[in-house]
Amino acid sequence: MSARTVLPAAGPLRGRVAVPGDKSIAHRAVMFNAAARGEALVRGLPSGRDVASTIAAMARLGARIGSTGPGSVLVRGCALAFDRAPGSIDCENSGTTMRLLCGLLAGQQGLDATLIGDASLSRRPMRRVAEPLARLGAVIETTDGHAPVRIRGTGLSGAEVALAVASAQVKSAVILAGLQARGTTVVVEPAVSRDHTERLLAAMGVDIAVSGSTSHAAGGSSVHAAGGSTLHAAGGSTLHAAAGCRVQVRGPSALRCVDVSVPGDPSSAAFVLAAAAIVEGSEVVVERVLLNPTRLGFLEVLRRMGADVGSSVEELVGGEEVGTLSARFSRLRAFDVAAGEVPATIDELPLLAVVAAFAEGVSTVRGAAELRVKESDRIAATAAMLGAMGIRVDVFDDGFSVHGGTVRGGANIVTHGDHRIAMSAAVAALACADGVTLDDADSVAVSFPEFFDVLRRLGA
Ligand code: S3P
Repeated sequence: MSARTVLPAAGPLRGRVAVPGDKSIAHRAVMFNAAARGEALVRGLPSGRDVASTIAAMARLGARIGSTGPGSVLVRGCALAFDRAPGSIDCENSGTTMRLLCGLLAGQQGLDATLIGDASLSRRPMRRVAEPLARLGAVIETTDGHAPVRIRGTGLSGAEVALAVASAQVKSAVILAGLQARGTTVVVEPAVSRDHTERLLAAMGVDIAVSGSTSHAAGGSSVHAAGGSTLHAAGGSTLHAAAGCRVQVRGPSALRCVDVSVPGDPSSAAFVLAAAAIVEGSEVVVERVLLNPTRLGFLEVLRRMGADVGSSVEELVGGEEVGTLSARFSRLRAFDVAAGEVPATIDELPLLAVVAAFAEGVSTVRGAAELRVKESDRIAATAAMLGAMGIRVDVFDDGFSVHGGTVRGGANIVTHGDHRIAMSAAVAALACADGVTLDDADSVAVSFPEFFDVLRRLGA
């Protein structure tokens, strides 16, 4: 644990940068290929700890994964025939690793595995994944609803499962179990969460179909599966009108390895763009970023604030939109985020709270109780962070209101070991009068180890 002081930017932030590979896609590219038949090259992996946890877990389960250069691995899949006695598998800080593995391993007859995690992951809810999986016949025991989670693989039968929360991790777990189950599995989610699992599995040959509404933050693009089949085309519904969606998967289904080139992570790009929006005179461009609409809610919110942000889709890579994002400093006004927009903005809400502190007026986020069960209680952590900088924050069970004002520096920020809280506080520091000291800056290594270097390259 090492403290770090972030000084205000001496001048505008300027330049073109790349950010590490998308964490959500990287987990899936490694995990699904490790479960598939054949061999695949996965390039553009982020060096952060979370994806390393997935690589180690899949190697432990019997896949052969070898480095072929920085950010690049060759995965030899085990065709859904994992080691039956892997013992305990350490998912460290990674909720995606733990929850997706629950679904992937549930249908492995004769397998007995225990998933463990660090202190933060061990506080996060796991019943939300064990219960829907039980509907398919899975045998998963949590420890009072938390990790350690013991999975005893067994034969599964397809079922229709309605999820109580819009969670891509839980949805993905049910889909992964469903592709090993006999018959059809349908997952219905209350609002549309990120759909990388659906897109990648379609490219790997799984019989999967999506229907319902999508949340199109980037304006009306359809969701296509690699290979050209349209998975989902919901005529131009907007982010505000996000409604539930149904995913249907028919099992048992084989998985075919596919090469994946992981685009930049929009959740990491968001920190750079937000910094440019609040540091006077700034202008930054982030290249080769994932532009999947289910991930771009923050861009829509920044636009509503009057921020000068741009996005342009330049190519489709493995069924995912990829292109450029840009942001320029501008005067900002307050925003509201309602429940329907939360899944598309979930990881960026602490950062949007920071931007709100620099905007005129009171910004409000509601329907975001999920923030309380992330790597930290992000409602409490965000309110305390901004409070330490002299900003008034009203806290609700399911969100917060941030009163824009004068952001004071000189504060000591408790990050709770949460990477997104640490990076959000660092962004605030860039635009306030004095530096801000983070109690622990090491956590940025979970998703964006290059964070401070990228800011420096832009002139911070
Ligand atoms: C993720 C889903 C989201 C998100 C997390 C990554 C994924 O979590 O917050 O950072 O890759 O599926 P939930 O599924 O809990 O909403």
